Amino acid sequence: MEIPTEFIELYSRLDRQGPGLPEEVRWAVTRLGLCGALRVCDAGCGTGADCQTLADCLPDARIEGIEAVPEFVEAAQARLDGLPNVSVRRGDMAVLSGPYDLIWSAGALYFLGVDKGLTAWRGALAPGGAVAFSQAVLLGGEEPQAVRDFWAPEPDITDREGLRAQVEAAGYEVVDTRLLTGAPWAAYYGTLAAGIAALRPEASPAMEEVLDGAEREIALWQQAPERIAYLLVLARPR
Ligand SMILES: C[S@@+](CC[C@H](N)C(=O)[O-])C[C@H]1O[C@@H](n2cnc3c(N)ncnc32)[C@H](O)[C@@H]1O
Repeated sequence: MEIPTEFIELYSRLDRQGPGLPEEVRWAVTRLGLCGALRVCDAGCGTGADCQTLADCLPDARIEGIEAVPEFVEAAQARLDGLPNVSVRRGDMAVLSGPYDLIWSAGALYFLGVDKGLTAWRGALAPGGAVAFSQAVLLGGEEPQAVRDFWAPEPDITDREGLRAQVEAAGYEVVDTRLLTGAPWAAYYGTLAAGIAALRPEASPAMEEVLDGAEREIALWQQAPERIAYLLVLARPR
């Protein structure tokens, strides 16, 4: 994965690299009935925000963050230092070994594709194990131009029913779903706006370009915040 250094510099200073709140992790853990000495993977963990929450709500579990970008791995390791039940390493979430009782993945499965990713993860799940992942969805009906522009980089985006069908076609049963609009996006874009403001005064031309792109993304979201959504999906292999 070739990512410009300016992009990494901006995003590695954020609390997380996509929308999500701790309460969503807690909801998934409760809804799946998880507790005890489990083995949990945070696939595409970024700088480790959800590893921390998983460790908080599953204190007897072993949490393993897997992340492709070395700078994010370093930031996650620094943030999680001192938590004995959490480790983060550089790796490819397409080739997990496990066996895991839970594979959690916020906003990252998209990089593999639902079918390819869920098929690969199936072999890394312990008996009775579950996946919990968030993924962009369209809400259906006539979309405002801002929403179409916002999702233009993701031409394969589908709606809630389409995503559910993809999960089922990959051999999983959907346990529950939760729509993520509003607050998780506002929190994420708040930190992104702060990151942009901090880097802007000393920005090189290459950094200006990255900051401008991030600002455009925030501006599009602000035009239709109630229409831009992730769906958090809980599922188990059939
Ligand atoms: C949108 S970010 C979300 C990060 C984190 N889950 C969060 O919510 O803050 C997606 C993450 O997936 C990582 N990623 C993408 N493909 C990957 C792969 N094949 N293996 C491991 N990590 C990957 C990216 O580097 C990025 O950190």
